[in-house]
Amino acid sequence: MRPARQALAALAVLALITGALGFKEHEFKKCKTASFCDRNRGQARGGTYRVDPASLALSGPELRAALLNSAAPGVALNLTLRAYGGGVVRLIVDEPGAGRYHVPDILLPDLESRAEDWQAAASDRGAWRASAGPAAVELSFSPFKLTLSVGGAPAAVVNSRSLFGFEHRRNKTDSDPAGWWDETFLSHPDSKPRGPEAISLDLAFPGAARVYGIPERATNLALAPTAGAEPYRLYNLDVFEYLEHSPFGLYGSIPFMLAHRAGLTVGAFWLNAAEMFVDLETTRAGPATQWVAESGALDLFLLPGPGPADVAAQYAALTGPTAMPQMFAIGYHQCRWNYKDEADVAEVDAGFDDHAIPYDVIWLDIEHTVGKRYMTWDSSLFPDPKKMQDDVASRGRKMVTIVDPHVKRDAGYPIHKEASEKGYYVRNKDGREFDGWCWPGSSSYLDVTNPEVRSWWAQQFALDKYQGSTPNLYIWNDMNEPSVFNGPEVTMPKDALHHGDWEHRDIHNIFGYYYHLATSEGLALRGRAVHGSDGDRPFVLSRAFFAGTQRVGPIWTGDNAAQWSHLKVSIPMLLTLGVTGLPYSGADVGGFFGNPDVELLTRWYQVGAYYPFFRGHAHLETQRREPWLFGDDATARIRAAIRGRYALLPYMYTLFRHANLTGAPVMRPLWYEFPSNAAVFEEEAAFMLGPALLVAPVLAAGVDHVDAPLPRESQWYESVSGQAMRAAPPAAGADQAVRVGVHMEGIPVFYRGGHIVPRRDRPRRSTAQQARDPFTLVVALDWEGSAKGDLYVDDGRSFAFRRGIYAHRSFEFEGGRLRCAAATAAAGAPPGRLSTDLAIERIVVLGLPQGREWEAILTPAAGKPRRLPAARGGADAGLDPKQGAAVVVRAGRVPVGADWEIEFREAGPARS
Ligand SMILES: *[C@@H]1O[C@H](CO)[C@@H](O)[C@H](O)[C@H]1NC(C)=O
Ligand SMILES: *[C@@H]1O[C@H](CO)[C@@H](O)[C@H](O)[C@H]1NC(C)=O
Ligand SMILES: *[C@@H]1O[C@H](CO)[C@@H](O)[C@H](O)[C@H]1NC(C)=O
Repeated sequence: MRPARQALAALAVLALITGALGFKEHEFKKCKTASFCDRNRGQARGGTYRVDPASLALSGPELRAALLNSAAPGVALNLTLRAYGGGVVRLIVDEPGAGRYHVPDILLPDLESRAEDWQAAASDRGAWRASAGPAAVELSFSPFKLTLSVGGAPAAVVNSRSLFGFEHRRNKTDSDPAGWWDETFLSHPDSKPRGPEAISLDLAFPGAARVYGIPERATNLALAPTAGAEPYRLYNLDVFEYLEHSPFGLYGSIPFMLAHRAGLTVGAFWLNAAEMFVDLETTRAGPATQWVAESGALDLFLLPGPGPADVAAQYAALTGPTAMPQMFAIGYHQCRWNYKDEADVAEVDAGFDDHAIPYDVIWLDIEHTVGKRYMTWDSSLFPDPKKMQDDVASRGRKMVTIVDPHVKRDAGYPIHKEASEKGYYVRNKDGREFDGWCWPGSSSYLDVTNPEVRSWWAQQFALDKYQGSTPNLYIWNDMNEPSVFNGPEVTMPKDALHHGDWEHRDIHNIFGYYYHLATSEGLALRGRAVHGSDGDRPFVLSRAFFAGTQRVGPIWTGDNAAQWSHLKVSIPMLLTLGVTGLPYSGADVGGFFGNPDVELLTRWYQVGAYYPFFRGHAHLETQRREPWLFGDDATARIRAAIRGRYALLPYMYTLFRHANLTGAPVMRPLWYEFPSNAAVFEEEAAFMLGPALLVAPVLAAGVDHVDAPLPRESQWYESVSGQAMRAAPPAAGADQAVRVGVHMEGIPVFYRGGHIVPRRDRPRRSTAQQARDPFTLVVALDWEGSAKGDLYVDDGRSFAFRRGIYAHRSFEFEGGRLRCAAATAAAGAPPGRLSTDLAIERIVVLGLPQGREWEAILTPAAGKPRRLPAARGGADAGLDPKQGAAVVVRAGRVPVGADWEIEFREAGPARS
């Protein structure tokens, strides 16, 4: 969030960001104005690199060698090559004795125990070769080159274009080029006491058709080549009014790229938290990239796939899978800068009930505090915050307050006093407390890179420390890039100092992660204090992020604008986060800046209902936009969109469990589900929610049709009519787009043949009130008459699922029989042993032959078969019954937790 105009005008110190609104390009560096990028971009600097064959030493999973540089004979770099399960390969290049920063706390602690010995290692004069699982590597000696092959063909190659470079430590001389030992951007000097220390990584993906990843930026899903343009930048920044279609880096960074073609997906993850630029070129051999990081070490993981889900699982095995959210956290969130006072909160809360719109969480932005001293309450506006939270909680809902990493420098503010006394702040280059300007005015920043500071910070969330908080209060971390209004590029100077005397330069991109982590640990501690050992799953939303953030909590895409272009770009932004391991993310519905008209707001809710994280939010200066303020028609449409979300929560919660087990994204690009279908490699309007739903959103005003790109591999059913979209599989090469008319009531969504989707169709006020509701199963048959799906249930709140207190059920329809059984327990998870008494009340089958009546016979595991009422229809499952496309079985209460089978039999011609 960034300043309101009037607040800005009052702050003379903010001269840089006052004036007209809009993205201030000149306020931010480009490659040319970042010395390390400028001197490395596109250049093979500093001679050729070669591996010294005499230095090779293999020990189990680890090969070591010296990497020599013709231009720096005195410097031998250490090269390490390790193999892990599944063919994941790690290349580390470091400079002995230089004490370079290696990013801690991101890789899973048991990773090294999963290292696996290299197989069939052999070397000759030119190269060392070995294999690891499905992958083979070749380390060529001179020049240095590393090739990862999958299925016998090179898939990822390091240094094929000789752009590798490693700026070794040196002493200052009089003839050193400008920019090595200091540089200034605008009026901000950067003393660079260690001199040049950048690393250039040359990484090509032979044969790949597209590359994806390296969030966060507002641009296309398939990354465009950067020749003649700016490289992609990874540097967490608070970017005011960001542009769509820009390579510019936004609030978070994940240095992870995927390369894809029909038949093979591979990934590359460079664990480095310094500023980074990435160039992409399309060569005849395939995409070729150059990554330049300002400092740190090269620590590169190559993930061999071969499928998109394999890459997701390989990445999750390195950095961890998604934390399982509470059920409330995937409901709808209502936020505004600001809900003014307790009466405003009560009114908005009641407004949802008055208009029968479900919602789960109401949020308070910075104005609820005393002068932006976080964890305080302005008592004239919020005299009784506990009563307010208890009242909201009495209807099964939660509240969220904002807590930012800048701490007001006020000796009367206990958090500041204690942090300062304990020496817990980031220091400037001279060792004094760093003092920067942010919301509260003069502020210092907790040095969350220090584990002691993190554990102190976590303790501040205890109920007796955070006055006015209750167990139903959760947290939002904003401004944690960190945002420093008067700092270079609105952040901290790179020569500021952290724990262990690391420069901010080294740790910049993980600062926000650490703050988010410490806050989340605070809620976990509180949860154990309140609820005992099964605790309470934390909910902390963050704006800044890094690889590993998925283990901590959700993020949102920051300060977007109420424009169609920002609705549109939200989709590739979220899809990119999904495939780079951070699926729990969303964009502000309605757009943060500006006032959406009713059509844009309605369309945004209709799309946002499918975002993994679903929150409406608006800037201080915007008009109020609670969902009922735009007339009855709009209220009804927004209600329908949000109810549609709630109906899908059993499916989404199950998708989150898959993300939690395997790293699979929740919202997925079409290519992830149809990796061989080249026609969808660039699709970034339509998307998949899990494997079973395709959403074809409306992303412009006045639209009366959408060409839905329905991949030819599957049968599809329009989700309102239940109508099958194709009579038979289309021929290869046939156009896949199907034109569908649209109206303002909704956007086109399709069930994918072959899949079963669990729903809850009774309209409720919140997830808490849905918790006991029976389910509907929508069975969408493929062309062979089969389908499968699953349903995951647990208490929706605690960590008890980690000790097996969950039920995971699988459904399979084949040969006219629908079977329910226990899902196979995932590797690493204890088998589910929750005996749930939840039930299925309705089964909707799409794709049974038309023109016939059907009967359904239930055979329980124990007991006698019985007939269930079956008829064509579907109105109560969100389907239009006139179409007669669905066969609906009124199941009564068929238990979810028991094994059973339902046989579908033809019962004669249709009665009309
Ligand atoms: C570099 O490699 C040598 C030889 O393998 C080893 O003795 C040394 O410890 C390594 N240094 C570092 C900093 O890894
Ligand atoms: C820098 O100079 C010091 C003192 O002259 C010397 O000990 C050191 O080895 C030099 N370092 C490098 C990297 O050349
Ligand atoms: C799932 O999420 C929980 C946190 O909610 C985490 O502790 C766990 O490691 C995750 N993965 C698995 C496989 O349970």
